[in-house]
Amino acid sequence: MLDQVGTPELDLELSNIRERVKSVINDDEWDFYKSDIEDVLRLKKEKNAIILGHNYMTPDIFHCVSDITGDSLALAKRAMDVDADIIVVAGVHFMAETAKLMNPEKTVLISDPTAGCSLAESITADDIRKMRALHPGVPVVTYVNTTVEVKAESDICCTSANAKQIVESLGVEKVMLFPDEFLAQNVAEQTDVEIITFPGRCEVHERFTGQQIKLLKKAHPDATVLAHPECPPEVLHESDYAGSTADMSRFVEEQKPKEVALITECSMSANLVAEHPETNFIRSCNLCPHMQKITMENIATALRDMTTEITIDPALAAKARQAVERMIAVPLNK
Ligand code: 13P
Ligand code: SF4
Repeated sequence: MLDQVGTPELDLELSNIRERVKSVINDDEWDFYKSDIEDVLRLKKEKNAIILGHNYMTPDIFHCVSDITGDSLALAKRAMDVDADIIVVAGVHFMAETAKLMNPEKTVLISDPTAGCSLAESITADDIRKMRALHPGVPVVTYVNTTVEVKAESDICCTSANAKQIVESLGVEKVMLFPDEFLAQNVAEQTDVEIITFPGRCEVHERFTGQQIKLLKKAHPDATVLAHPECPPEVLHESDYAGSTADMSRFVEEQKPKEVALITECSMSANLVAEHPETNFIRSCNLCPHMQKITMENIATALRDMTTEITIDPALAAKARQAVERMIAVPLNK
């Protein structure tokens, strides 16, 4: 625990948070996290910092200290409106890079810079240049789950929330949609635009199978199955709905299913349980080892020591930013 003196305001904030998360954080867990939560809340105030928490963060981070939560699209967009000097990204490295791209004048921190992503690691800037040479004139759409170097070589970015719209917004017959092979195949099934794919995969979502979903539905015939579009197409064929992490949250919020299975990272269900006590969540999920590297303890240390700061070469950032800005300019019709 860091040196600190509690204040009545902090005590009140903590007790309000405790009340809110009672259904997802038990007393022992609360005792374990409490001093770090206290430190993070205090340091945020002292340093005028905010925390962007991805939907895959564990409930302690997601519910107790995050100021903005959401999918990668929401975090990329909302990071731009924040009135703070410091942004701590509770998510993986590409998310912190995107936050820095959109907020070059702010200090952006990630509490474990080794929190990567198998998709971001699957493709390099050189791969994009080679693919452009193979397919001259075909625009390159890259998933935000990529490095800044890859974004800088791209025409426009997309996320799982807007991939189809971004592809169609270009008004061309053919695009390259990299690097998630399954996302690209899933989008290709919904559009007339021809899509060239790349063999990148999310190590969490590629493990789900159509057979698994069939068995799940047999065991839970009343369950609604929601799957992330990084899953193989056969998984989406067996599911009732496909969407980004924010789309899945929205679905649960609006449809209020009695029983639901979220075919994605495990923390999604854990986070939604607190807001939807009326819904039974079937835990058929996989853990992302990269997201799991972000902990309450290392967030407290990051804020105290101002580590690890994301820095991007300004010329590279300018090119990469264009691809993200073009994406944000495409209206999302949801
Ligand atoms: P979302 O954009 O749906 O939040 O997905 C990000 C991610 O890393 C999924 O694996
Ligand atoms: Fe990357 Fe998959 Fe982890 Fe998301 S869940 S950060 S896509 S490895």
